[in-house]
Amino acid sequence: MSPTSGRFSVEVLGKRHQRDDFDCGSEPLNRYLRTQARQEMERDVAIVYVAVSSDRPTRVAGYYSLSSTAVRLSEWPEPARKRLPRYPLVPATLIGRLAVDQRCRGLRLGERLLIDALRRSLAASQAIASVAVIVEAKDQTGVAFYLRYGFISFPDQPLRLFLPMKTIAQLDKP
Ligand SMILES: CC(C)(COP(=O)(O)OP(=O)(O)OC[C@H]1O[C@@H](n2cnc3c(N)ncnc32)[C@H](O)[C@@H]1OP(=O)(O)O)[C@@H](O)C(=O)NCCC(=O)NCCS
Repeated sequence: MSPTSGRFSVEVLGKRHQRDDFDCGSEPLNRYLRTQARQEMERDVAIVYVAVSSDRPTRVAGYYSLSSTAVRLSEWPEPARKRLPRYPLVPATLIGRLAVDQRCRGLRLGERLLIDALRRSLAASQAIASVAVIVEAKDQTGVAFYLRYGFISFPDQPLRLFLPMKTIAQLDKP
């Protein structure tokens, strides 16, 4: 895929999307899109959203996956735990994966996908409660990306971060 100058839109992954030449530089994230993403959707495990450009509307330029999850009460850092009920598991929303094709880097597509995921998570949490969005970074580079947007690492799990839904709700406010 050559770099694109088109405008991007985000939509649910479907059969029409070409996934085979997607390359974000991480083989596990490439493989997920190629072989697992549609299966997970069929099994109701995740919804995968893809970014496509107006000039190449079937080619995947970036993607993320979204699922419900639950986090053990003991895993939250102390300040967050204080606000939570004493249930063993606390409901949350998971961005399992997020990646941008190497040929589309630096176009703010990663940011666009992340904001799209946060907005969708916030909207869903108004129907089915969720205290935070969780992300699982694949390495320190991924962590650095999420830290820019206010994510907080779980204690003793440096690759796993969260952003409280209350914080997300403030993002769009003037
Ligand atoms: C991380 C990733 C999604 C960023 O995508 P991108 O489209 O190139 O990033 P954007 O253009 O939206 O960048 C937005 C801002 O974040 C910064 N940024 C991008 N990647 C970053 C990283 N890994 N660490 C810190 N900052 C980063 C950009 O410099 C830009 O900063 P600015 O506001 O000062 O200009 C992409 O590099 C990627 O897919 N990497 C491989 C997979 C991965 O690491 N996924 C995330 C964790 S699993």
